[in-house]
Amino acid sequence: MRPNDLENFWMPFTANKDFKADPRMIVSAEGMYYKSSDGRDILDATAGLWCVNAGHAHPKIVEAVSNAVKTLDFAPTFHFGHPATFELSNRLALAFPKNLNHFFYTNSGSEAVDSALKIALAYQRSRGKGTKTRLIGRERGYHGVGFGGISVGGIVKNRMYFGSLLTGVDHIAHTHNPAKNSFTRGEVEHGVELADDLERLVALHDASSIAAVIVEPFAGSTGVLPPPKGYLKRLRAICDKHDILLIFDEVITAFGRLGTMTASEYFDVEPDIITFAKGLTSAVVPMGGVAVKDEIYNQMVDNADSPIELFHGYTYSGHPLASAAALAALDAYQEDDMFKNAQEMSGYLADAAHALKGSNHINDIRTIGLVAAVELKSRDGAPGARAMDVMKAAWNKGVMLRIAGDVLAFSPPLIVNKQQIDHMFEVTADVLKTTT
Ligand SMILES: Cc1ncc(COP(=O)(O)O)c(C=O)c1O
Repeated sequence: MRPNDLENFWMPFTANKDFKADPRMIVSAEGMYYKSSDGRDILDATAGLWCVNAGHAHPKIVEAVSNAVKTLDFAPTFHFGHPATFELSNRLALAFPKNLNHFFYTNSGSEAVDSALKIALAYQRSRGKGTKTRLIGRERGYHGVGFGGISVGGIVKNRMYFGSLLTGVDHIAHTHNPAKNSFTRGEVEHGVELADDLERLVALHDASSIAAVIVEPFAGSTGVLPPPKGYLKRLRAICDKHDILLIFDEVITAFGRLGTMTASEYFDVEPDIITFAKGLTSAVVPMGGVAVKDEIYNQMVDNADSPIELFHGYTYSGHPLASAAALAALDAYQEDDMFKNAQEMSGYLADAAHALKGSNHINDIRTIGLVAAVELKSRDGAPGARAMDVMKAAWNKGVMLRIAGDVLAFSPPLIVNKQQIDHMFEVTADVLKTTT
């Protein structure tokens, strides 16, 4: 096999044979654009994988990481520390919801989710509520690919191949109701009562067995499902009533996707725990984390039954390069007013997306913040095939789209401008004309 053969890399979440027969290769990136191996500029309509929020190769982040690697390549955070991760935590404490002031770091969103679930269980035990072990997710939820994440997650293909998963997990109903909510902007009108599905599970299992509920503020990877108006507040109230922790998985929503630092701020609902990743470093260096409210941290630290209060951590928790990238990304978001641009562009993006109504194959269009989902009708017996064809054709015409089943998900970097939004939807409309 030649060393540059494509065969040896087993690509994630990819039809390997299909890709390797006709590869889409990216060789560099700057701002809103990738460069393909055949020298074309490719407009990034997806911020990579919902993560390059500051745009590619932001000079501030590149410089910070370059300097960091020359100064401190690695230092452990078990029993030792280095300043950047403490500084990052101080910065995040100021930016995140009021009571969430303690930060644990991971390398990815999946690890953030599994860490959050473990923290929730350990906290319940620490405060004498050791029977609270059940974890509740939501149908259609995506919480990464760790065993914890796929157990509380609700996407069938991500679960069905991998055995019996975690025990003691249950799911509330998803919120998608296309008969009542279609072609929507922002939170949807119908379905607040779906939060009461948590009461059903409390009646079934009893609150004394339930540790935590985890939801994405809007479901992203399943195809963008904005929550019903009032739904998250009602979920919060039911969790309070039954002494259940509420975890928001903000791996996609934190760092400006909704024009705010967190979805918690956007929806005005404070959870007990937030998981985050992606936009934290604008994806320049992998990093995720868990924000916990003061009560959780204090309970565990003040009442530990051994010198170490949390037997959990990763070699690269708070890696110096990731911490430097995150600090620089926070600076870039602030100095370049990127969240404001995201707010300003969100209406334009929504208009451009909804203008596709009437094009071939359109089933539904949903928008929220700087996100638009264009759902296509599936081909008979071949779910996802039509969107895959659209994605490939758009690539050939210079636009990178993200697909989830038959949904085209638009989530550009927060620096996007109107011309670029026009371009991504012109290309999509053009492609839909010839898609069978
Ligand atoms: C809500 C949510 N949680 C967790 C993850 C997993 O993150 P990662 O791919 O960094 O493990 C994702 C990734 O898209 C996500 O959208």
